[in-house]
Amino acid sequence: MHYHKILVIGGGLAGLRAAIECAPKADTAIISQVHPVRSHSGAAQGGVNAPLANNPEAKDDTWEKHAFDTIKGSDYLADQDSVEYMTKEAGPCIYEIEHWGCPFSRTDEGKIAQRPFGGAGYPRTCFAADKTGMFMLHTLWEVSVKMNIPLYEDRVMVDLVLDGDTCRGVICLNLRTGELEPFMAEAVIIASGGSGQIYGRSTNALISTGSAQSTCFRRGVPLKDMEFVQFHPTSLFGTNILMTEGARGEGGYLVNSLGERFMSKYASKAMELAPRDIVSRSIQTEINEGRGIDGKDFVHLDLRHLGREKILERLPGIRDLAINFVDVDPIEKPVPIQPGQHYSMGGIDTDVHGATKFKGLYAAGECGCVSVHGANRLGGNSLLDTVVFGKMSGRAAAEHVLGKAKLKEGEGAMNKCLREAKAKIDSLLARSGTENHADIRAEMKETMIKKVGIYRDKAPMEEALQKIRELKERYQRITVQNKGKSYNVDLFRAFELEGMLDVAEAIVVGALNREESRGAHSRLDFKERDDAKFLRHTIATYTAKGIEISYSPVKITKYKPEARRY
Ligand code: FUM
Repeated sequence: MHYHKILVIGGGLAGLRAAIECAPKADTAIISQVHPVRSHSGAAQGGVNAPLANNPEAKDDTWEKHAFDTIKGSDYLADQDSVEYMTKEAGPCIYEIEHWGCPFSRTDEGKIAQRPFGGAGYPRTCFAADKTGMFMLHTLWEVSVKMNIPLYEDRVMVDLVLDGDTCRGVICLNLRTGELEPFMAEAVIIASGGSGQIYGRSTNALISTGSAQSTCFRRGVPLKDMEFVQFHPTSLFGTNILMTEGARGEGGYLVNSLGERFMSKYASKAMELAPRDIVSRSIQTEINEGRGIDGKDFVHLDLRHLGREKILERLPGIRDLAINFVDVDPIEKPVPIQPGQHYSMGGIDTDVHGATKFKGLYAAGECGCVSVHGANRLGGNSLLDTVVFGKMSGRAAAEHVLGKAKLKEGEGAMNKCLREAKAKIDSLLARSGTENHADIRAEMKETMIKKVGIYRDKAPMEEALQKIRELKERYQRITVQNKGKSYNVDLFRAFELEGMLDVAEAIVVGALNREESRGAHSRLDFKERDDAKFLRHTIATYTAKGIEISYSPVKITKYKPEARRY
């Protein structure tokens, strides 16, 4: 049995930042499925928001303006106390990472450079060319190495150990040995990233399956606002690799088959820099109405007017991706793009400290929902969320464990959970049904993108719900072909699929119940936002009888909900 006072599940930005915060105060270890620098945080390209006022056009930017833009961008579903906390902490958190060595791009005066991003009144997105997430990730990883924080890598969390209302640790599958390993702790911080792989056409890494999140869900940890799924407007046609919003921030245009900069019809002031929900819907409408390029499912991202020098300095990564994956050099030709699933605004329900309803259990980053993004996240606020709330959850977990003696009373719960996890894995390996779990996964992804995508309607969503439930039934008849121990990808892919189906169901049920349009949740049968009925969070709870939906109030401080215009 491993024992640490605090366990951080996930080695991406939120997990590393949490561990860095609590390790000096309490024995802390990180558990990660992949080596930390291979986490999905590294795929974040365009930048991280902070009202530093370094750009000449942002001299009077403040945390209050950042908070207002975030809340308006969220279509007023964000909890305003959390947003105020995040935007106040943004500057200090960015300077901290800068001082740890993160090589941000610079202004001529040597300050951190900032570019415009969508839905923001000012250029406030700090960046490191178009590889910001990668540079931040390497910086935090190096800090964690310097601090000698123990790392257990190649581990998949397969269960959460709860003892009544108290978290006692986790059970992991060691991918190298194939053995189950119990980890006891007095606090667990889930920082395992998003679940984008539930959808087809996702910008997310293959590891973004939300398996730790769904494992918590199955044990009764509620998920909040799962129906709000963000589509990034510009993913590369064919592979859906991210083409950063920084490309539009630097001045890129979106153009349809008629050669029109069509955003003038949808957001005449903000144009390509309207919030992502609006830009994604606009692109999808152009495609649906037959103005995709050559009648296909994409439009063009045109960067040619930016010139070679700017593209090479500011957007070298997406130039390489476009050349390598679609044989298009953006210096010479426009890039084919379409919206792709990108981010989950919802997640494990937490308060502003990252605390869940279970003692000792915290969540931070994309797997959590402290509710700073509401119904639509602004670009550049996700990296910020990881570092601000990673740090906050680390602090809260450390305070929780300080002064407590090593617990013994959790061992019974741990042993019971270990037996259950073993029985589950053994049963997966023993099944000999006719269903292939890869097919079930593919059908789930297709269903979610086609029926619970950018535009939603009652009938297709009901079909999706029926389909997901049918897939859950078929899942009972899968076979895991590989019976081996070491790196049994067949086994853990089968394992995580069960949780993905649960989360998919929570998304669809939440979306069906929310009879309004708000942010990224856009219903053709309920086109307006309905504050009277739905200015509230959806809470999904897994029970033996199925998913139960309840609601909780949105915290409003001083920003009264009004109509969004861009
Ligand atoms: O477009 C991007 O670079 C992505 C940023 C984000 O999701 O915040």
